[in-house]
Amino acid sequence: MYFLNVWIHILAAAVWTGGLIYTAAVAVPFALTHPVDERQRILRGLGRRFRWIGWGSIIVLVITGIGNLTLRLTPIKLSQVFNGDVFNPEKVERLIAVWLPWKLMLVIVMIALMAFHDITSIQAAKRYEGSPDSAPGNRMGSRAAALATLIAILVLYVSVRLVRG
Ligand code: HEM
Repeated sequence: MYFLNVWIHILAAAVWTGGLIYTAAVAVPFALTHPVDERQRILRGLGRRFRWIGWGSIIVLVITGIGNLTLRLTPIKLSQVFNGDVFNPEKVERLIAVWLPWKLMLVIVMIALMAFHDITSIQAAKRYEGSPDSAPGNRMGSRAAALATLIAILVLYVSVRLVRG
């Protein structure tokens, strides 16, 4: 069960981070070679299709993340996350106490940035009178998504340190 859980966790991390990196490295540069309204159609169309896959993988990551903590060889109870034991090296494995707070903080910031991106994009599309796919870009939202991509990459590093020291 533990191995299956970690495998699903890593698969979801690959889908989430891979999708963000593909968007930044392939979809956005490709869209920028097109005129503005076509660029918007490409980016909004791709963004809308990735939205459910992206949020689906975040939900799977949080559920399997909790599974990783409770099923591991040195298990951590969910109550230890809420009573603060998990951040205390005398109560839990040192690596968890050192790296889990960083990981949880980064994951929360990453989710908040992506929620900001999606909410502001949806609002901009609703305000626009033409087809939602041609609605104008949303600069702050795009910056938030770019920052979330960098944080997702950092989360991968912190995850490796969490397991291997
Ligand atoms: C609430 C959210 C999360 C929690 C509680 C959590 C917890 C954990 C734990 C405890 C492990 C160690 C598993 C083990 O080997 O026993 C782990 C591994 C891992 N996590 Fe997460 N995680 C969360 C979210 C994420 C996110 C958002 C990503 C990616 C963007 C991610 C990527 C990974 C990866 C790649 C590993 C494997 C690291 C390795 O084996 O070197 N996790 N996670």
